[in-house]
Amino acid sequence: MATNPVPLTERLAWQALAAHSRDRQLNLKDLFAGDPKRGERMTAEAVGIYLDYSKNLISEETLRLLLQLAGETGLRERIEAMFRGEKINVTENRAVLHIALRAPRGASIVVDGENVVPQVHAVLDKMALFADQVRSGAWKGHSGKRIRNVVNIGIGGSDLGPVMAYEALKYYSDRSLTFRFVSNIDGTDFAEAVQDLNPTETLFIISSKTFTTLETMTNAATARAWLVQGSNGDEKAVVKHFVAVSTNGSEVKKFGIDTANMFGFWDWVGGRYSMDSAIGLATMIAIGHDNFHDMLRGFHEMDEHFRTAPFEVNLPVLLALLAIWYNNFFGAETVAVLPYEQYLKRFPAYLQQLTMESNGKRVTLDGAAVNYSTSPIYWGEPGTNGQHSFFQLIHQGTKLIPCDFIAFVEPLFPLGRHHDLLLANVFAQTEALAFGKTVQEVLSEGVPDWLASHKVFEGNRPSSTILAQRLTPETLGKLVALYEHSVFSQGAIWNINPFDQWGVELGKALAQRIIPELESRDEPVLGHDSSTNALIRRCRKLKMG
Ligand code: F6P
Repeated sequence: MATNPVPLTERLAWQALAAHSRDRQLNLKDLFAGDPKRGERMTAEAVGIYLDYSKNLISEETLRLLLQLAGETGLRERIEAMFRGEKINVTENRAVLHIALRAPRGASIVVDGENVVPQVHAVLDKMALFADQVRSGAWKGHSGKRIRNVVNIGIGGSDLGPVMAYEALKYYSDRSLTFRFVSNIDGTDFAEAVQDLNPTETLFIISSKTFTTLETMTNAATARAWLVQGSNGDEKAVVKHFVAVSTNGSEVKKFGIDTANMFGFWDWVGGRYSMDSAIGLATMIAIGHDNFHDMLRGFHEMDEHFRTAPFEVNLPVLLALLAIWYNNFFGAETVAVLPYEQYLKRFPAYLQQLTMESNGKRVTLDGAAVNYSTSPIYWGEPGTNGQHSFFQLIHQGTKLIPCDFIAFVEPLFPLGRHHDLLLANVFAQTEALAFGKTVQEVLSEGVPDWLASHKVFEGNRPSSTILAQRLTPETLGKLVALYEHSVFSQGAIWNINPFDQWGVELGKALAQRIIPELESRDEPVLGHDSSTNALIRRCRKLKMG
């Protein structure tokens, strides 16, 4: 696919934005005072998601230039190329088609001459059948008992999506089933996950696109041993207690899982973009296939909005442009994502992989080093907990941290005044960040001079507010797709590849070399640097006593 011929920083819009950002006449108090309708005007709403971006350090001119940047860098063409199934993941020579995972049954998306939508729905149908069997108790364990526990074993995209979605949609889940998620190679993760479970009632879903990932395969082997031991040593138990989600049939078979109980997906689904593929099997078992399809519908609605809406009202594009504005023209290193919804407690962790594994890149599509900053660091915690820990720094620290506040108009649990208090906190935080409190205001409250500066809030700290009616499966799909496409748009403008992850490989390879050095009985000859050598020797010595 064609890459941008003009270097990003030499583009007219980029240079104009740089000059514009140096003006720094972007004071939220003045901007709001000068435009009483700003809070209504600088908003966009689509598919039931309302984005208020008025409390950002932007003027009409900023927005115009950012939109010009999107135009100059060919964002529209990149979007179309993705939706057409072009191999835009150039370093792996793959199409990028998570959007096909939620395409309606009759749609057609062609990869290498084949419409992939029927395959997607065939897998969804197989998942639905299996999910129904587990939920109804028709799927029995080896000893004839029904399944009461489902343990997903996976890591990265094969864990973060399922666990985030399970937590987010727990309200809709079957409470007679227990769900656990094991990812870490640290044995504690597995041990704690199963310590109160009965193996004869436990189903393991081994989720791994490659089926070779060290963490997942180690945990899967431990799970098999735990199951067999709990089944009086009967290896045959594996058939009824293990299913796989993978693209690698031969490895699944080698592990001993019947490929009839394998749920496939495709190389055009990236790990961090896979929660709505078969990787979502645990989610489907938890919430049922109707709810899962509602989630897919939500994804698809956002996809269509992203594909068709003009950029000035396009939610993912607007979020992306704001991220670029602060990242590249204000030197902001991070973005805080603050869901005011307890069920979204794993959403920031999920977004970390989505954003940073995608856009944490240092070379452009053609391999040249970038001379601008790429992905910011995404982080966050649910409100109001964050307010009582790191918000101090956001309000009064020396760093600029743009914030995404995510809230819902209706609670899932309408408990007394809780929800009004929760929402009041969202709006209060964005107001405080934007408008602060002057020294005059502080002094007028009778605060002594010596204390006043400590109580001043500079304000002018940017935030966006994302508001939806209620956290439903459909809304979750829209929210995830919103960020997926924002990440895509950022990557397209930076002219990098958001769909590979070579940066995780080196550590994996080095670990393979160190494993035998830690495990060998004989003193190994160590060829690392002096720090790594010393750490390995120390552990060997202390372990062996
Ligand atoms: O950490 C790298 C990575 O490849 C992620 O991109 C991926 O989500 C994760 O490992 C798990 O990979 P797999 O599903 O193949 O086990």
